[in-house]
Amino acid sequence: MKKDLILELLRTSAGEFLSGEKISKKIGISRTAVWKHITALRQEGYSIEAMPKIGYRLLDIPDRLYPEEIRDNLTTVSLGRNIYYFKTVQSTNQEARRLAQEGVPHGALIIAEEQTGGKGRFGRVWFSPKTLGIWASLVLRPEISPENAPPVTMLAAVAVAVAVENITGIALGIKWPNDLLYENKKACGILTEMNGEMDKVNFLILGLGINVNLM
Ligand code: BTN
Repeated sequence: MKKDLILELLRTSAGEFLSGEKISKKIGISRTAVWKHITALRQEGYSIEAMPKIGYRLLDIPDRLYPEEIRDNLTTVSLGRNIYYFKTVQSTNQEARRLAQEGVPHGALIIAEEQTGGKGRFGRVWFSPKTLGIWASLVLRPEISPENAPPVTMLAAVAVAVAVENITGIALGIKWPNDLLYENKKACGILTEMNGEMDKVNFLILGLGINVNLM
C-alpha cells in the first residue's frame, strides 16, 4: 500500500524533512496523492509536520496496535508475521478460532483495540476497553499431543514477563500458570484454548490480555 510506503520513508529518514517531490518520485504517485496519504496517516494518529517548500517529517507515532508498528519491531520467524487487526471485535480468541478453522498459518496474530465480549477463564468476562490494553490472540499449530499443551501457557507467561521487563524495566511476578502481577494487581491474563483430537492438537489459541493503561 502506498500509504505504508510513505510511512516507511518518513520513519527511515529519522526525523529529517523529506520533500513531497522526493516521496512522489520514490513511490511513483503525484504530490497531491502524497498529501492525501499524509492526511490519512494524520487521521490515524501519526504526528507529521508539513513545512511549505521543505517537506514532511514524522514527529510521533500513535499509541495504537497498528500492524505496521508491530511488524517493524518483530524478530520472530512465524509469530506475528500475519496480523489481523480490529478496532473492535467481540473476542480475539473467538476471531482467532474462526480464522484458524479457515486455515490461517501458525503464528497468525489477531489483535484488537477493544473487545466487546472479552473472555476470561472459567467463563468470566474480561474487561477490554478501547486502547487501554493489548488484547491479542495467537494461532499456534504445534505438532504435539494434547497432554503436552499446558506448558504452552507457562511459556507464554514467561515470554510476556521477559518482554515487559525488556521494554519497560518493570519486573512482573508470575502467578502460575496464567497470571502476571504488578504490585499484586493483575497485569496480564492468559486464556489458552485447544482444538484437537485424542492424540493430536489441531491448533491452540493463545489469548493474552495485557492491562497496559488500566493499572
Ligand atoms: C484470565 O481469565 O485471566 C484470562 C484472560 C484472557 C483475556 C484475553 S484478552 C485477548 C483474548 N481474547 C479473549 O476474549 N480473551 C483473551
